[in-house]
Amino acid sequence: MSRRYFIAGNWKMNKTPSQAAALAEALVKNIGGVTKVDVAVCPTFTSLDVVGKIVKNSNIKLGAQNMHFEASGAYTGEIAADMLLELGCEYVILGHSERRQYFAETDETVNKKTCAAINAGLKPIVCVGETLAQREEGVTMKVIETQVKGALEGVCDKGIKSVVIAYEPVWAIGTGKTATPAMAEEVHAFIRKTLADKYGEEIAEGVQILYGGSMKPENAPELLAQKDIDGGLIGGAALKAESFTDLVQAALNA
Ligand code: PGA
Repeated sequence: MSRRYFIAGNWKMNKTPSQAAALAEALVKNIGGVTKVDVAVCPTFTSLDVVGKIVKNSNIKLGAQNMHFEASGAYTGEIAADMLLELGCEYVILGHSERRQYFAETDETVNKKTCAAINAGLKPIVCVGETLAQREEGVTMKVIETQVKGALEGVCDKGIKSVVIAYEPVWAIGTGKTATPAMAEEVHAFIRKTLADKYGEEIAEGVQILYGGSMKPENAPELLAQKDIDGGLIGGAALKAESFTDLVQAALNA
């Protein structure tokens, strides 16, 4: 089965609505017509509306960076799936290591959010990754297996088809340190095997697994050449139209 490459920009807590609009305009001009690679941008909640309107008539998809698992109610400061859908979101990033680290997300909350997103019709981009201490301890695969299985508990064969996994080694995020292509591929192949054990080979072969962590135009070609790396979840390099455009071009050339 041939998977499509997917380049997603995680803008994190950057850009006001007007700054986000300017970046979105530039991206639509540069890569709005790309059809051979899946492309998405994930701005802050406050910029989803304006960015959604700008990318609406292009091939660039919209994603959010988080959501709550409940549908509505007394959860001050939280956002529900149907609010994201109404603004045009197709994707939602879940379980990013920054949310696990600073906002007490656990495999359990990531699982609840993953199920809620799928049920609502959003495609979750589920993030997993080991810390430097875990890698040095030699427990990387165990950590990844626990996170992948934890996030996907109760997700059925139909549900998994809308899930994207992002492998983001925590020590490589925003640090300029990238996993070597071989290191990344080893974990990606392991994630696919974990999926195959649960859902069978055919379904596992269809799941997009993205790499994230200091991915940029210079290192993308080598990473994207790996068998099980199907794209990137891009932080820093997604904040400039030129570098994000070059990353999409790298995926088109891969
Ligand atoms: P980075 O972030 O590209 O800036 O390392 C990636 C991410 O955290 O999604």
